[in-house]
Amino acid sequence: MTSTMDSTVTSNGTAIADDRFRSEARFTTLRALREHAEHQLSEAVWNYLWTGTGDETTADRNVAKFDEVLWEVPLFAGVSNPTTNTNVFGIELALPLFTAPFGQETEFHSGGHLAVGRAAQEAGIAQMVPVAAAYSMEEIAGASDRALFFQMTLVGKLEHTLAMAQRAKDAGYQYLIATYSPIRQWRERLIHDKFSPRNSSVHNVNFGPGKSDPAPLQELINFTEPRWTWAEAAEFIRRSPLPVVVKGISSARDATAALDAGAVGLYVSNYGGRTIDRTLSAIETLPEVRKAAGPDVPIVLDSGIRRGSDIAAALALGANAVAIGRLTAVGLAADGEAGVLRTIELLRDELWTTLGHLGCSSVADLGPDAIRQAPNVPTAG
Ligand SMILES: Cc1cc2nc3c(=O)[nH]c(=O)nc-3n(C[C@H](O)[C@H](O)[C@H](O)COP(=O)(O)O)c2cc1C
Repeated sequence: MTSTMDSTVTSNGTAIADDRFRSEARFTTLRALREHAEHQLSEAVWNYLWTGTGDETTADRNVAKFDEVLWEVPLFAGVSNPTTNTNVFGIELALPLFTAPFGQETEFHSGGHLAVGRAAQEAGIAQMVPVAAAYSMEEIAGASDRALFFQMTLVGKLEHTLAMAQRAKDAGYQYLIATYSPIRQWRERLIHDKFSPRNSSVHNVNFGPGKSDPAPLQELINFTEPRWTWAEAAEFIRRSPLPVVVKGISSARDATAALDAGAVGLYVSNYGGRTIDRTLSAIETLPEVRKAAGPDVPIVLDSGIRRGSDIAAALALGANAVAIGRLTAVGLAADGEAGVLRTIELLRDELWTTLGHLGCSSVADLGPDAIRQAPNVPTAG
């Protein structure tokens, strides 16, 4: 169906309708997806999806600080039809986007990470798979050819973590995302709701007979040994059969430590404000991480991405790509594989539009020049 509202009629009578964004799709905006997802889930499961820790100030700040990134909008920039395509970690991506690793995902939809992987494949992006997924790493790797990153927590005995890394390689993953988990999180919504996922970490499908030794999982919960140091992480990275990206980077100090330990990429993240409250937002820490890493190290950022222009902001400030946690979970809850695919499409379309307005023909053109510093007080003249 074509609208006449936005169309003009040229002198020779040809109708020109700017209906590029007109869609008969079930969800036409990310807001609509989120509203539907929230209706689909019980309040307790929605709280699991959306929660932060403490007063959730970091979760809120992650989003609010994107709103403070303001554009410098050029006129007559001679832009060509922008392309959102890019290549990060040697992987061709239709836009600079990954689905972030999120656990216990069948709370949102029975398709879980199988559905996320298929949507990632259809959309031409790549999937990050968590060790805490509701399906085994092999099942998820078998569902698509885009399950390329496996997230695992470095805890317990080195030999156990290396055995799991080998298992990830055998399943077809190309990179590991190493995470650090010092202690449990204070998530008040979940404490209040007495929430415990059906597929809890205690029953993790990746551990047990015929899978991986459950000792690291027990260690994570029981906390009987000191947590790892950078020296131990470096030993793991040196012996790992797959290249390692370190997640949770929020400072120049940790960026340098991760690279010194042998990381091939940095993942700037505060886990969407789900680990500890009262930190800087991820986007605020990105410039110092890029500065410490130098121009060539691939950097992924997550925490607070809510729309396509946020992707552009992260790239302008030094990231090569971003990842989405809550938005992927929202898409999954709203409509399974189709909901995740629609989420990615909407992000891509808005990113495309943002590039055009900023005079960028590709995402590689995004840089500090795209950003405008706001004066504290507007003054005349
Ligand atoms: C429901 C849920 C579960 C998560 N589980 C994991 C996990 O198992 N491992 C992990 O590294 N990050 C986990 N995360 C964090 C995400 O990978 C990501 O860092 C975070 O969601 C990014 O912020 P955003 O939600 O604002 O995009 C989880 C996030 C959500 C929303």
